[in-house]
Formats: sequence, structure tokens, C-alpha cells
Amino acid sequence: MNILIVNGSPRGRFSVTLQSCLYLEKRFRKHHFEYLNAGAGIDGFEKDMRPAAEAFARAELVIFAYPVYSFLVPSQLHRFLELIKENDLPLKDKYVTQFSTSKHFFDVTAHRFLEENFHDLGMRVIKGLSADMEDLLDERGRKELEDFFRYAVFCAENAVYEKSASAPAQERAPYVSVLDACEKQDGFDTVIVGDLREGDESLRALIRDFGAAFPYRTRFVNLAEFPFRGGCLGCLNCATGGKCVYRDGFDAFLREKIQNADAIVYAFTLRDHSMGSRFKMYDDRQFCNGHRTVAEGKPFAYLVNGDMGREENLRTVLEARASVGHSFLAGFACDADEIRTVSIRLAYALEHGYHPPRNFYGVGGMKIFRDLVWLMRGMMREDHLYYKAHGLYDFPQKRWPRMLGISLLGALMRNRRLRRVIGDKMNEGMLAPYKKVLDKT
Ligand SMILES: Cc1cc2nc3c(=O)[nH]c(=O)nc-3n(C[C@H](O)[C@H](O)[C@H](O)COP(=O)(O)O)c2cc1C
Repeated sequence: MNILIVNGSPRGRFSVTLQSCLYLEKRFRKHHFEYLNAGAGIDGFEKDMRPAAEAFARAELVIFAYPVYSFLVPSQLHRFLELIKENDLPLKDKYVTQFSTSKHFFDVTAHRFLEENFHDLGMRVIKGLSADMEDLLDERGRKELEDFFRYAVFCAENAVYEKSASAPAQERAPYVSVLDACEKQDGFDTVIVGDLREGDESLRALIRDFGAAFPYRTRFVNLAEFPFRGGCLGCLNCATGGKCVYRDGFDAFLREKIQNADAIVYAFTLRDHSMGSRFKMYDDRQFCNGHRTVAEGKPFAYLVNGDMGREENLRTVLEARASVGHSFLAGFACDADEIRTVSIRLAYALEHGYHPPRNFYGVGGMKIFRDLVWLMRGMMREDHLYYKAHGLYDFPQKRWPRMLGISLLGALMRNRRLRRVIGDKMNEGMLAPYKKVLDKT
């Protein structure tokens, strides 16, 4: 079978993910492997997609191999997908699957994002594999990789593939400005960060109406005009030295124009089940903040030009980002009613310092970060100091009295006679500390 590996890592031949593909090539010699350097070679594909079109035409099975970057795929691979669509590459009915490496932090949303785009292209989607970045180093990981490859080839040979799990997007009429400006107060700095391009009048009107409805003054920063030199290269220079290798001023721009605001509102036109590759470049480049939740407590909101109601995966990404960052998400506004509601919620959060606790996304995500930073602390110095200072190393759990109490209770419960004697007292015992709080209140 002709296998095409689309290498989405900006690290090109130094990609960890690529090593697993090279391993497969060695293990399955009867198949022919071809490689497309989509991540590191994105500038070349911007100019000419013909080599990609030819490689896709030869392929019987395509494997997108990439690192998970900031809940999704690297901005370079994201851009490559846009180029596939812009150039109308005929990928209909082509078998496709995906292989990622990561620390499993929101690998699910990255996979779902690609699946949604593969379905847009009419491709036949085979469930992918999400590996830990070190899996190739042990026997179990190598076996899982080989099993996955055999399964993918089997599916391609036997016409077994996944149906789309997402509802098809609905065309929406462009938004037209309808809201009158209310009286403005000072006191909070709210920045609207948009990817506002020439001719995108619908998004412009959403931004205008939010500015009109919101009771505080807002300022606008247009990412479309920021002179990015490129997407994150995954070089980890920032992890050791705290500085990005690009000299385009992004670190300062981020800190002085955006992160210093009291509230951040993102404005985008929905593209390819995402905020678009430019916003993804912005997200990935924030790796200069490492795994530190620098915007903790700041409320967020999103102005969305498009049918956000159907974008379950993107909603998950944005809700999860808020929870991991421990920030209040004031919601998504796609029309005038939602602008009003979101604006009220955002103002409330600012005025009352409201930010609810992390949920599963945030608690689970932070535990992955905690373990990673702890292991990599020799290199991720700034992260390590931040995690120490903020009490984020919540392990090992040294709650000895509580653990002793529960061990004792466990021992008693294992005895049938004692269990009967304890009876209802168990419930009372469990509630005792809560009752103490209630009594004191
Ligand atoms: C900018 C950036 C963002 C990342 N985001 C995530 C993430 O959201 N989830 C995760 O589990 N790992 C994340 N990682 C870790 C990479 O996915 C992981 O190191 C991967 O194995 C690198 O593969 P590569 O060498 O093929 O590029 C990120 C790394 C970088 C540099």
C-alpha cells in the first residue's frame, strides 16, 4: 500500500512523532512510505501546493502525524489544512488517519478537530492513535503503534471508516450592526483581540456592537496586522532562556497589549471548525509563557462570526482553556441578544472579581502540567518556580491524619459485625466536618 505521512511537526526531521513513522516503515517493509514535510515546510506550500497534490494522488492511505499543540494541531499544520481547502485538492474518498504524540493534554480535541476537517474534505476517516511522546521507547508503546498501523491498513483494505459525528454547519446571514452605544465608565481595561481581515464586515459589526453594549471602554488589537515571523517552532528555547527565538516582538506585544488587560474578548470568524490558523499561531506562540496560568482570574468572552452552536469541539477547547487558566468564561456571542448577555456577564465578573473554581478540564489538565513540569524542572525553570510559589505541586499527598482515619475506618468496615454496629454512624461521621462548618456559620 502507498502510505503518505503528512509530517505536521514544525520540528521537521527532528520531530519525535516522525520517529514512530520511521519505525513503522522499518517494521512494515512491504508497504511504500512517502513523507510530506507539511509543518516545517509550510512556507514552501504557501507558494506551491503541487508537490502536495501529487503526493496525495499517489497515496492509498494518508497518515497525519503531528504533535498536539495547545489543545489542537500546530499552526503550520492548521495552515496546511487551509491550503488543502483553498486549493481544492481532490481528497474525496481517500483513506485517512492520524497519529499524534503529546502528554495527552487535550489530545482528544486535537483529534476531533482533524476528524472534522477530514470529513469536510469527504475523506474516509479511520480512528487515529494518540501516543505519549515517550511511547516508542518501550515495548508496549511499540506494540500499540504496530497494532494501530495494522488496524488502519485493514480498515483501508476493507472499506471500514467512521461517519461524521458533527452536525453539518449552517450558513448564517452576515451580522449587521444594530446596537446603540451605552454610556461608558472607566475603571477596567478590556481588550478585544480579533483576527479582522479586509472585507469581513460581519465580524467588524460584532466587534462594534460589543463595544457599544459593554458598559466599559474597550480597545481593539488586530492580530491580522501583527507582523508574525512564523508559528511556534517547538524549539523549547523559551523554556530554558524565557525568550522566543523569533525577533518579531510577540512576547512584548502579548504582555503589554493583551495580558495586562483586566478582561480579554476574542473576536473571530469561524473557519474550519476553529478560530483560523492565525489565531492558532497566536495560541502556540504563547508557549513563551510556558505552563504558567498568567491570565488567572481574568474573565474572557468570545465574539463569533458563525454558527458556534454546532461547533461542540471548539466550544470544548475554549471552555477547557478558561478552566485550565482558572478564568471565568462569559460566553460566546454570535448575535445581538448574545452580545447583550455576554456583555452583562463580563461586566459582572469584572466588578465582582468572579472566577469559579476549575472543573474537570482544569483540574485534570493542571495535574498533567504538574507532573510534566516536575519531571522537566531542570529545563523549565520559570515554570518550576511558579508551580512552587503557587502551591501547584500538590503531591505526594501528605494528609497523614486523614489517611490514617480512613485506613482505620476501612479496617472496621471489612469486619461484618463491626459494620453492622457502625450502621448509620458512618453517614454521621462523614458529615461531621461539614456540620462543624454549618454550626459555625
Ligand atoms: C507550543 C507547544 C504546545 C504544546 N501543546 C501541547 C498540548 O496542548 N498538549 C500536550 O499534551 N502536549 C503539548 N505539547 C507537547 C508536544 O505535543 C510533544 O512534545 C510532542 O511529542 C512533540 O512532538 P514533535 O517532536 O513531533 O514536534 C506542546 C508543545 C509545544 C512546543
